[in-house]
Amino acid sequence: MALLDLPCRCRIVALLSLIIFVAFSHTALSATAAAAATYNVVGLGAKPDGKTDSTKAFVAAWAKACASPKPTVVYVPPGRFLLKNVVFGGDCNNNAITFRIAGTLVAPSDYRVIGNSDNWISFHHVNGVTIAGGILDAQGTSLWACKKSGKTCPTGATTLGFSNSNNIKVVGLTSLNSQMFHIVINGCNNVKMQGVKVSASGNSPNTDGIHVQMSTGVTILNSKIGTGDDCVSIGPGTNSLWIEDIACGPGHGISIGSLGKDLNEEGVKNVTVKTATFRGTQNGLRIKSWARPSSGSARNILFQHAVMINVQNPIVIDQNYCPDNKGCPSQVSGVKVSDVTYQDIHGTSATEVAVKFNCSSEYPCNNIRLEDVKLTYKNVLPAQSSCNHAAGTASGLVLPSSCL
Ligand SMILES: *[C@@H]1O[C@H](CO)[C@@H](O)[C@H](O)[C@H]1NC(C)=O
Ligand SMILES: *[C@@H]1O[C@H](CO)[C@@H](O)[C@H](O)[C@H]1NC(C)=O
Repeated sequence: MALLDLPCRCRIVALLSLIIFVAFSHTALSATAAAAATYNVVGLGAKPDGKTDSTKAFVAAWAKACASPKPTVVYVPPGRFLLKNVVFGGDCNNNAITFRIAGTLVAPSDYRVIGNSDNWISFHHVNGVTIAGGILDAQGTSLWACKKSGKTCPTGATTLGFSNSNNIKVVGLTSLNSQMFHIVINGCNNVKMQGVKVSASGNSPNTDGIHVQMSTGVTILNSKIGTGDDCVSIGPGTNSLWIEDIACGPGHGISIGSLGKDLNEEGVKNVTVKTATFRGTQNGLRIKSWARPSSGSARNILFQHAVMINVQNPIVIDQNYCPDNKGCPSQVSGVKVSDVTYQDIHGTSATEVAVKFNCSSEYPCNNIRLEDVKLTYKNVLPAQSSCNHAAGTASGLVLPSSCL
């Protein structure tokens, strides 16, 4: 309805409302603009050609964002940006820096450039950093080939590392072909990851998807991880970890551990893994520890609503962990495993033993609970369960029948 069609008094009221509305939206817009200064890396010299080293421009953008007393955005437009290893360090003058990434960050094709650094891209001592969108392409395939050839090769860099940081968000990020781990959260509080995709080949060495350790309040939601090692690995000192809606495969499953590498080690406690699908993975839900003395532990763990599709070891606690059977400690694990619940786990095992608890003879696993577990060997054959030094209960329908 046109303004002029209204009776006089209404016209004035409508006009006033319009003026107030315009004035208000203007203020709101300028407030948003003032609240978040944006630094476009291209404006600072980055080139979206995939060939020109753009590291300096990213460092410059971070320096500006970190020095700003107000919330800031570092914007990476579409295109491929070549980046060497880089540390984005704090403390910063504000606690709201967003990396809005529309493009792809690509590591140098020569793996030696970043291969001896712990991380390719790392955030250290920051508070309130969000990474939204983007693709991180570490180009790890040539390093994997080097490792498989038996030559001497660098260890390789983690693609994205956060250490000693708080209030972190990673949303809609894709990580491709990491040299080593894809994402590592170490010594952090309150980290939320959502809609993350990880992709590396099923036979790539040590390319764990997301690794968490010495951290409290980490949440991983709605993510899809396919890789050559653990989809999610949970190290010592992890507390209050929530993982929900995960598709894992290829990979080695979701693993707590390996624990007990060290004599003095922080425990893992309060971990929930809810609604996960494992497709063709080596393990499903795993807890693993080395067979040697340790102060470590894994307590209050809930695995709920998981689907296993052709998984070699759907449910496994292995306290004699020793991959490749080389240099095994061959002692007894000191890691104490207790209060672990498996609830509504079903699907198919690729091997006959679908449930395996191989615990420490000195510190047997206790209060292991199986509730509504139904696993078959391949599609139709009955599976088996095996217990060593494991105690607990079973309720509901449990197949293969419990050996606890
Ligand atoms: C356990 O972790 C959840 C988040 O995963 C948290 O909300 C809850 O408070 C934690 N419980 C304890 C006792 O720490
Ligand atoms: C448990 O681990 C020990 C030590 O590695 C091994 O000898 C044994 O065969 C395992 N038991 C099962 C049932 O896998």
